[in-house]
Amino acid sequence: MKSHYKILVTGCIGFIGFHVVNKLIKKGHIVYGIDNIDNYYDVNLKKSKLKLLKKNKNFFFRKIDISKKKQIDHFLQKKGVLQQALRF
Ligand SMILES: NC(=O)c1ccc[n+]([C@@H]2O[C@H](COP(=O)([O-])OP(=O)(O)OC[C@H]3O[C@@H](n4cnc5c(N)ncnc54)[C@H](O)[C@@H]3O)[C@@H](O)[C@H]2O)c1
Repeated sequence: MKSHYKILVTGCIGFIGFHVVNKLIKKGHIVYGIDNIDNYYDVNLKKSKLKLLKKNKNFFFRKIDISKKKQIDHFLQKKGVLQQALRF
């Protein structure tokens, strides 16, 4: 039997995070993505990647800084149990 998890990916619209989210979704997992959309790289590129990810019904996004623990808790509380956390 296949196991599906609820997974938090931080930096989810960065270079690595974006690909990780896509892989996880293809494997059937539910992904909660956070990113502060910083301007270290092109913000428009990040926004277009976000638009693509949002087409997946199993992807949920909030613009949150990783240092804002309460905001992350609040986002995840509404979504249920957290099985695994990845940081990119
Ligand atoms: N790309 C590579 O080849 C490579 C290789 C080795 C290690 N790494 C490391 O992996 C990590 C990710 O690399 P990347 O290439 O995907 O970088 P990236 O800059 O493309 O992605 C990082 C993402 O994290 C977000 N972010 C930054 N600070 C944040 C914060 N405080 N809260 C929430 N989101 C935040 C950014 O907006 C961005 O979308 C980095 O730490 C990098 O040093 C990357």
